[in-house]
Amino acid sequence: MKILTSAIFFLLTVLTAVSLADEISSSAFHGALFADHTCNNQDKKDSLLSPPNTTTSFPTSDSSSGLDCDVWSKACSEAVLSLARRAEMAAWLKAVRRKIHENPELAFEEIETSRLIREELDLMEVSYRYPLAKTGIRGWIGTGGPPFVAIRADMDALPIQEAVEWEYKSKVAGKMHACGHDAHVAMLIGAAKILKTREHLLKGTVILLFQPAEEAGNGAKRMMQDGALEDVEAIFAVHVSHQHSTSVIGSRPGPLLAGCGFFRAVISGKKGTAGNPHHSVDPILAASAAVISLQGIVSRESNPLDSQVISVTSFNGGDNLDMIPDTVVLGGTFRAFSNTSFYQLLERIEQVIVEQASVFRCTAEVDYFEKEYTIYPPTVNDDRMYEHVKKVSIDLLGEKNFMVVPPMMGAEDFSFYSQVIPSAFYYIGIRNETLGSTHTGHSPYFMIDEDVLPIGAAAYATIAERYLIEYG
Ligand SMILES: *[C@@H]1O[C@H](CO)[C@@H](O)[C@H](O)[C@H]1NC(C)=O
Ligand SMILES: *[C@@H]1O[C@H](CO)[C@@H](O)[C@H](O)[C@H]1NC(C)=O
Ligand SMILES: *[C@@H]1O[C@H](CO)[C@@H](O)[C@H](O)[C@H]1NC(C)=O
Ligand SMILES: [Zn+2]
Ligand SMILES: [Zn+2]
Repeated sequence: MKILTSAIFFLLTVLTAVSLADEISSSAFHGALFADHTCNNQDKKDSLLSPPNTTTSFPTSDSSSGLDCDVWSKACSEAVLSLARRAEMAAWLKAVRRKIHENPELAFEEIETSRLIREELDLMEVSYRYPLAKTGIRGWIGTGGPPFVAIRADMDALPIQEAVEWEYKSKVAGKMHACGHDAHVAMLIGAAKILKTREHLLKGTVILLFQPAEEAGNGAKRMMQDGALEDVEAIFAVHVSHQHSTSVIGSRPGPLLAGCGFFRAVISGKKGTAGNPHHSVDPILAASAAVISLQGIVSRESNPLDSQVISVTSFNGGDNLDMIPDTVVLGGTFRAFSNTSFYQLLERIEQVIVEQASVFRCTAEVDYFEKEYTIYPPTVNDDRMYEHVKKVSIDLLGEKNFMVVPPMMGAEDFSFYSQVIPSAFYYIGIRNETLGSTHTGHSPYFMIDEDVLPIGAAAYATIAERYLIEYG
């Protein structure tokens, strides 16, 4: 997840430090947003990941019960939980997560992470297709026939130097799993293990999606282009959250995370000496008027009950105090929770800038960085899929361990899946005051309570297995 503004819920922002004006070329834009991952060509030979040495003592089928779970019961939830909570399962999930944590890889560079996942899938005899979107994997468990339901984990790390001192601290300078995607991968591998054990009970096919590049580059979109959602009728994904106690699940129906986009406008006039303005066409005045008018979009054109924001964060006309410049470059970001409002903002920002510029005889061009994949639509939960997650969570963990959460201004590329099929995105808590796992994602102090891993795996597995029974 991208934690993009402090807004109401999050304090950290990677973006306010970034001045678009400092990064005029659009190829540098990503570098500015997500720090510099192009000049960090570490030799990876020493950090090859291999599966941890544990997997010997798992049952190959769920012999603990004669339950068929054609109709889901409390006993079925308990059977899944007891698989997840076995001591060797918990130890293995921790080991997998720590291996990934020690060797973080950035967007589309998840080579060793992807290899580790495939080796684990091989050990479990889970079939998969590889590669999708460079490093992505599409595994499957079940009958091989319909219905198909997908569960997704993202694999990429962030260009952040880990500041947590612990045994499994990142070994790669300047890179860290500071958003918990290492935990998401471990949970999905754990779910694969549980589902493989229960494969004879599955009433259809579970698709496991291991996705690159959530933080940068629209990995989800690329996965879809490579067929990740073929035949899939619903999809679910989890994100760890420092706001909820360990293993508490939270979600909400409808809009959950904002759509997020960036814009940069070049407003062009005609250079001239400042003492004789009538010989020039002043882009500073035009750009200033555009900034003021942009603030009228949300305040005058949007429904106040439909949260939206436009922030101009950068304004640059050079530094010559005696000259009116040729051009001014300004830029910023916009957010909205409904698809319609999001695309309306996108359209109106360009109109307002271009037309305000023309009032002052200037021209303007607006760039939304579509080619650099920085447009993320809102993540909107389907009501029925949300209800499914809620029901599964409560049956698995009890009423007290499920919460309805408020929408947040961060963005997630899970939204690309949620645009095309019914989906639900949910959080699972990792907050433990004793351990100190209280820092927000994208903080160098971010850490998780690893006790979440078996529960996260059980939740993924049950959401998928029950979907096949109850919605298939
Ligand atoms: C893996 O575990 C087995 C059994 O505990 C042990 O005999 C073997 O040496 C281990 N292999 C590695 C590479 O640690
Ligand atoms: C969101 O809006 C865009 C632009 O109008 C449209 O192309 C897309 O299909 C919409 N998505 C949904 C889920 O309505
Ligand atoms: C927090 O972590 C400690 C140490 O692992 C554990 O003993 C405790 O039960 C955890 N607390 C919660 C609320 O999970
Ligand atoms: Zn994330
Ligand atoms: Zn993130």
